[in-house]
Amino acid sequence: MQSDLAEAFRRAGQGHVLRWWDDLDEGGRARLLEQLRQVDLRQLEELAARIRSDGFRQSVTGRVERPPYVAAADPARADARAAGEALIRAGKVAALVVAGGQGTRLGFPGPKGAFPIGAISGKTLFHIHAERLLACRRRYGVPMPWYIMTSDATDGPTRDYFRQVKYFGLPKEDVLFFKQGMMPALDRRFKLALTGKDQILLSPNGHGGTLPALAQSGMLDDMERRGVEEISYFQVDNPVVPAADPVFLGCHHRAGAQMSSKALWKREPEEPLGAFILAEGRLVVKEYSDLTPEEMNRRTPDGKLLFGLGSIAIHALRVDFVREETAGGCKLPFHLAEKSAACLDEQGQLVAPQGKNVYKFETFIFDALADTRSSVILEVRREEEFAPVKNADGKDSPATCRCGMTLLYAAWLEAAGVRVPRDEKGQPLHPIEISPLYALDAEELLARKPRKLKLDGPLYLCPEAR
Ligand code: UD1
Repeated sequence: MQSDLAEAFRRAGQGHVLRWWDDLDEGGRARLLEQLRQVDLRQLEELAARIRSDGFRQSVTGRVERPPYVAAADPARADARAAGEALIRAGKVAALVVAGGQGTRLGFPGPKGAFPIGAISGKTLFHIHAERLLACRRRYGVPMPWYIMTSDATDGPTRDYFRQVKYFGLPKEDVLFFKQGMMPALDRRFKLALTGKDQILLSPNGHGGTLPALAQSGMLDDMERRGVEEISYFQVDNPVVPAADPVFLGCHHRAGAQMSSKALWKREPEEPLGAFILAEGRLVVKEYSDLTPEEMNRRTPDGKLLFGLGSIAIHALRVDFVREETAGGCKLPFHLAEKSAACLDEQGQLVAPQGKNVYKFETFIFDALADTRSSVILEVRREEEFAPVKNADGKDSPATCRCGMTLLYAAWLEAAGVRVPRDEKGQPLHPIEISPLYALDAEELLARKPRKLKLDGPLYLCPEAR
């Protein structure tokens, strides 16, 4: 054992990580050493000090306002579309999906992207995103690269999955995986938690980890080599998100923005969405879990919720902004999450906890908004862009997501002159699914003239059905 490393851990009050050193074989020792070398002890001390002092509570003080935003009905959107399409056609846009989360709430064992969500096709989240990428490549005639962020837990299974399905027909060289970093967790006594005699508890460092991981993995260099200037960022859990929305990219680019975001009005004050606000003139997202009930319900004189402009985690980022943000290490602040995890007890036995027993630390990508010189918030319509799968049941579940997809595609069909039978609540009587390869949006569907379609059962429109 290198004595200076052991000494550093002892001095920091973390010497217990070496308690079982003598029991470990050579492989175990090497594994443990490798992990310990990555631990930033000073950073952990600072994080523990913050928990002790204010518990990471960040109440919003001072002047708080709703930020300006481009409304969903703004007529300037048409011009923005042309600008965005030109950017995409010039090969300056890449898609990036964050897929490092473990999907614990969904109760799905594999990577969340492999969750089957298509109401009729049973296609997975990754499959639907891939079809949208394929459709964009076809529409714009460019090899739009797709960057997929994974974590230790999802990297191997995600790569295996893509190999198995032959990258859904996308050229392998345009599907690029990169792994986010991991952060150690602390137990209630601020000691590094252990899950094995040679294993400290590590968890993904949050989607803010996208930025340093892009730089460290060489993906930022890859983007620059390809002439990519803008990143279209989205989450794997939302199967209706456009891979690259020309209106959004156009608004963002024309405003000379460094990072921009899409927003929608929260359905109810408690809806679990981060909220865009201007705090003392600075654009920030206040995460839903950090809002007090009073803040959630605060209204402005127009009767709208002050914290009502919700983030749906869709962003556009300039590549040169990511370069700036990551020069000299990641600057994003950490957030605290209290979680439960099985840990070793004093006797070296793995014990399942009674409740929350560890502190985990994550950075959030939306905190980079505060570092921008300019950004645009674009309001979108929920039914057109947001149907996330987060929980096994209830809100934001596979069932609500499939309903959301059916509602969206029903609206496209009706706009194209097809009669869609609905129940008294307005829900279509039959599930509907449209493959992005059949129509990427309502306009493309209209051009296919589906007028003669009769809906008397589930409908799946895919290229084979053309
Ligand atoms: C997230 C946002 C919330 C937003 C909502 C919209 C956070 C903290 N909050 O909430 O502001 O309104 O989505 O749907 O993100 N991920 C990683 N690595 C990580 C953590 C997450 O890749 O370390 C990915 C997940 O795979 C997933 C996405 O980020 O695609 C969202 O993560 P999740 O923890 O589910 O966030 P939410 O609480 O749903």
